Amino acid sequence: MLVTIDGPAGSGKSSVARAVAERLGFINLNTGAAYRAVAYLALREGVEVDDGPALGDLAGRVGLTAEGAEIDGAPVPDEALRTPEVSAAASSVSSHPEVRRVLLSVQRAAAARASEDRGAVVEGRDIGTVVLPEAELKIFLSAAPEERARRRAAQSGREKELERIRAAMSLRDRQDSERETAPLKAAPDAVIVDTTDLSLDEVVSRVVELAQSLGRGA
Ligand code: DC
Repeated sequence: MLVTIDGPAGSGKSSVARAVAERLGFINLNTGAAYRAVAYLALREGVEVDDGPALGDLAGRVGLTAEGAEIDGAPVPDEALRTPEVSAAASSVSSHPEVRRVLLSVQRAAAARASEDRGAVVEGRDIGTVVLPEAELKIFLSAAPEERARRRAAQSGREKELERIRAAMSLRDRQDSERETAPLKAAPDAVIVDTTDLSLDEVVSRVVELAQSLGRGA
């Protein structure tokens, strides 16, 4: 079974996807890590974030497993991919069709391996719409912008920078939603869950129940 979880930054995607995968005994794939790995490589190798063809070549060196992203077959530590510089560059990098085309097959291959094995919970921005439109269960998480910024600040221990985080997040949201290729949006058959006033446990239980009801053929 394939479960997709899409939504903007701070909507709770990563925490929800991880916990749902654990409860269902599925593999969790965080596709943002692959985009971040391309951005990390671009910064390291001095490739401009507006050079689509060169970024597409870099994407060819990136892999994705349940453990995270790989570069040239070696795992990249998650901390290296979570800096504000990499976050900002990842949003620009992900707007290029050359990058998305390469990572599309990387993501599909990773999901196919995972779902053959057990099942997969695949998290990102365009998983239900573009990467795995055939998935049995599609979830789109949303939350109020202030709440998403608060969660991101708390998660990274940068509560004092709330306003800066909110501004950077709203810029990324705009870029991710307005880009021409595979913008952030809910699939027509996605279940939309507004997490603003829900606890992590409440969201996880709701998604697990939906998956189990499908598994029972309900
Ligand atoms: O989920 P994240 O914040 O780690 O994602 C990093 C960036 O990658 C984000 O700005 C949007 C982009 N991304 C994307 O365009 N498509 C995906 N499936 C996942 C992430």
